[in-house]
Order: sequence, then structure tokens, then C-alpha cells
Amino acid sequence: MATIPKDITCSGSTARRMPAHLPYIAVSAFDIIALVLVIGPLATTLWIIPKEARKAFENRLWRFTGAALATLTLSSMTLLVGRTLEMSRQGLSEVAHWLPLVVRETPFGRVWLVRLILLVLAWAAWSIGRDLEWRRVAASWLFAAVAVIAFTRSATGHPADQGSWAAPEWVDWAHLVAVSVWAGVVFTMSGMIFPRLRQERIPPSVRADLITRLSSVATVALIGILSTGILSAYHYVGSWAALRDSSYGHILLVKLALVAVAVALGAANRFLFVPRIRAAVVTPGGRGTTAYDPGETPLKLLTQSVGIETLFLLAALVAAAILLHGMPPREMDHAIAGTTAQASRTARPGGVQRVSMRRIDAHQSSLRSLRSTARYGVLPTQTAPPGGLCRSWVGSGETSL
Ligand code: HEM
Repeated sequence: MATIPKDITCSGSTARRMPAHLPYIAVSAFDIIALVLVIGPLATTLWIIPKEARKAFENRLWRFTGAALATLTLSSMTLLVGRTLEMSRQGLSEVAHWLPLVVRETPFGRVWLVRLILLVLAWAAWSIGRDLEWRRVAASWLFAAVAVIAFTRSATGHPADQGSWAAPEWVDWAHLVAVSVWAGVVFTMSGMIFPRLRQERIPPSVRADLITRLSSVATVALIGILSTGILSAYHYVGSWAALRDSSYGHILLVKLALVAVAVALGAANRFLFVPRIRAAVVTPGGRGTTAYDPGETPLKLLTQSVGIETLFLLAALVAAAILLHGMPPREMDHAIAGTTAQASRTARPGGVQRVSMRRIDAHQSSLRSLRSTARYGVLPTQTAPPGGLCRSWVGSGETSL
């Protein structure tokens, strides 16, 4: 056991600044967007396309799901490489040496292996779903597999700092799934469905049904997003002062501003355009015909509005990725206020030492807040300070050696 003196834990001034983690942020954003791109067409297939319009869209949506799954497979590989670089603090040329160690020796590596198995299952479901008869069942399996992949994110991010399977992980997971449904269907509608609604000669009554379903799915997802988002924000930030004074709080505020615009656009869609599109169906010219369509103008406006919403949601996803690489004020306070940390080191083959660390109170009882150090479980021996540990083991690993 080594005792970490107080002064080498996170110091206030350095910990309050957001680190320059651009490549890692890009990797997280890529992975989150890939997840959204898979869940979007699946949710659209399962819940939004009415029976009468399936023929027109289902094959296209399935092909797109396959492409999105390929993107998620790529992002999963990138994530592993990114985390290996982040943990080993070595360059890309060293990655082949550290990667197997990260997979074998760290909690992240073990969770990543589960993700790999889930990806194989997801691909199996996708192949089965190429047969139209199995399409909907396969879409449900694929959705379930990708939802568990979403959990692998929550199990290796800030929520995992409170321990495995703890409430923050479930809240974060529900947030991520709801986010993926909302942003995913918005992306899918604006990229694939709206541009083809007219070409495919979908009758106005079916269009109206489709748009009503979209609006309902988005509303349910949004309720989930807002409730879980507020819970997480309270958990990580804790006070108005922290929201105002920390970099984490500032990024969260930017994200909330972007979300507010997207929500306002969603509300306009639901309360202005959707009722007008539905109303057009009951007019004599609207029922079951495409010759004269009084719902055309609101549909155009809805299409434009959803297009703009897509851009704001994309920006919010990037803001969320930045947030994941910052240190939440609550965690930071624990790290700064910490008096003693205990570390146990185990030498491993290949010049690696495995370090686990816990913060203890005056009675030597563990304080849960420092579990985050487990995420940075591999370091080359030569970079650890003699007889002690480096600062990057504390909190979320923001500070450098
Ligand atoms: C009231 C609104 C919202 C609040 C208060 C909120 C707050 C949060 C918080 C505190 C986190 C945890 C970040 C961390 O681990 O440090 C988070 C994660 C996240 N949020 Fe939100 N959020 C909101 C809405 C949204 C919306 C609308 C989107 C979609 C565009 C979104 C996308 C995400 C994503 C992708 C994550 C990362 C989840 C993960 O990978 O584990 N959030 N959010």
C-alpha cells in the first residue's frame, strides 16, 4: 500500500480547466453518432412507418441500418485504440504493445470484449433480417443488442465511477437510449423519409399517420431525455455555483442551449405543422389522393424544421462528447477535498503495473468517489513516479504526470 500525499492529488487550478483531449473527444463523438445512426432507422422501422408505407421504405431502411452498423463496428475499434492511447499515454506506434494489455487488464477492456460479442450478435440479427419475413423480429433483436452496447458506454464513463451497476449507470444508459431514439429518428426522417415521401406517392392519410407516430415517439423519448438528463446533471454538478464556475458546467450550458433550440423546433413541429398536416387529410381534396394536397405546405415546413433540428442535435451530441472528457464538479470536489488515497500496485508482465486506488476517510473506510481511477488501470512502469503514483490516477485522470 502506498499513501498518496494530498498535494499530488488534483490541484484546484489545474483540475478546473478542461483538458485538450480533442482526439479522444472526436472518438467519443464518432461512437455516439454511430450509435444514434443505428438506433434511428431501427426505431423508424419498428414504431414509425405505418403498415401501408412499409413496402416503400423498409428495404432502404435496412440497408441503411447495415451501413450504420458498419460505422458502429469501426467506432468500436477506434474507441479501443483511443482508450489505449489515453491510458498508456504512449504514441500510436506503441499501440500494438498496449492494446492487448488494456483488453486483458483493465475494466474498460473487459467491457469492450462484451461489446465485441454484442456486435457479432447484432450482425447476425441484421443478416437474418435481410429476409423480409424475419425483418421485424430481427429489428427488435438488433435494437436490444445495440441498447446493451449503449450500456457498455455507461459502464466505462463517468457513471461507472460510482461502482458497477450503480444507479448513475442506469440513468446514463436510459439517457443515451432515449437520446439515440430521438436524434436517430430525426436524422432518419430528414435524411431518408421526408425527401422520398412525395416520390413514393404515399397517400396523405398514411403520411399523416406516419407524422403523428413520429411526433409521439419523439415526445416519449424527449420526456425520457429531459428527466434522465436533469438527474445526471444534478448528480454531476450539484449546485448552481458549480454550473456557473466550472468548465464542465459551461459545456453543459452550451449543450442545454443547443437542446433548447432543438426542443423548440420539435414543439413547433408538434403543435403547428403536425395538426395542419392531419387536418388536410379530412378535407375532400386530401383523402387518399396525391393530385391536390392541402397538407403539402405544412409538410415542406416540417421537413425544413426537422432538417434544422438535425443540425442542432448533432451539435448537442458533440457537446455531450466534450462533457464526457471533462471532470464533473462533484468528482472534482471529492478529489480536491481528499486527504488520503491508498493505492495497491501489482506488477504485471510486459512492464505494466496494475494500480487500484481508493480514497479513505479517517476510519480507513473507502469513499466511493475515487473509483474513477480504475478507468486508468494501466501505466508503463517507467512513467510512474518512484514510490508513489502519478496525478493522472486521481479523479477522472485529467491531470498529467
Ligand atoms: C435537459 C436536458 C439535458 C441534460 C440536463 C443533460 C445532461 C447530461 C449529463 C449531465 C450527462 C452526463 C455527462 C457525463 O458523463 O459527464 C449527459 C450525457 C449525455 N447526453 Fe445529455 N442532457 C440533456 C439532453 C440531451 C440531449 C437532447 C441530447 C442529444 C442530443 C443529449 C446527449 C447526451 C449524450 C450522447 C450523453 C453521453 C452519454 C454516454 O455516452 O454515456 N443530452 N447529458
